[in-house]
Amino acid sequence: MKRNMAIVGLTSLTLILGGCSSLPNPFDKEEPSVSEQPEEQQQDPSNNDQDDSEDTKGTDDQSDGHNDKETNEPDLPSLEDTVTVTADGKKVVTNVDDPLVLVNKERSLPADYEPEDLVIPNVPFPFTENLPKKQLKKIAASAAEEMFTQAEKDGIPLFAQSGYRSYDRQEAIFTSNAEKFGEEEANKFSAYPGQSEHQSGLALDVTSPAVEFKLIEEFGETEAGRWVKENAQQYGFIIRYPKGKEDITGYQYEPWHLRYVGRVHAKRIHEQNMTLEEYLGVRVEAVNSTE
Ligand code: DAL
Ligand code: ZN
Repeated sequence: MKRNMAIVGLTSLTLILGGCSSLPNPFDKEEPSVSEQPEEQQQDPSNNDQDDSEDTKGTDDQSDGHNDKETNEPDLPSLEDTVTVTADGKKVVTNVDDPLVLVNKERSLPADYEPEDLVIPNVPFPFTENLPKKQLKKIAASAAEEMFTQAEKDGIPLFAQSGYRSYDRQEAIFTSNAEKFGEEEANKFSAYPGQSEHQSGLALDVTSPAVEFKLIEEFGETEAGRWVKENAQQYGFIIRYPKGKEDITGYQYEPWHLRYVGRVHAKRIHEQNMTLEEYLGVRVEAVNSTE
């Protein structure tokens, strides 16, 4: 199926963001140290060797990008056909286990969705406890293991900080952020429950000792941050909230937030300097252009 990548008018990602520079430090916000999160303070990297990295490796595989026979382009999910609309007008995605599922301010995961195949990837974390946030959906976990193995070979100090989050966990985080910063401000860096990619098990926040394992913009300028920007697509990950695309994604720049979409799509998205919204044909326009 062919997708029109043209960006035209806005769907209504109510995104707003001008400059993000005045925004508070996102580390506290994304993962506040409430209840079971004291681990954020820990800095005890646990390095593990890779084990069971499966068949996501290797060829320019088609496993995650069915081809359109006529155009030889990957077959992309239809945005309209992958949501149901609730009585109150909320769009809830139906392709929950699709690596290309689009979760954003307009498209929520079902509140009770939890991936069935969550596993803990064998990658370094800056803490030792087996917390739920270590988990990823299996396909993303295997890809992450390959990416971290290569990072280690390249001498890059890369760590995983946060993967899967339940709806309830996201609710606690967002509520805490909203109390601290106000709801509107909080939603520039923190998703409402149901709207976080972390609930899909396909998102992974990465960091490095150079930023004390925090999730902050400066990570993008570290050796690890630059390596991720240049290489993540080879393992099927994209930087989901790029700089300069805030009006499309709805969130401030997050050089640490990787999203697994599969190798075929990640490479195409990277090459075309696109967001997932643009790639999937969301009709967007810069809200800020209406001066
Ligand atoms: N920080 C991203 C937007 C989240 O809360 O999922
Ligand atoms: Zn994240």
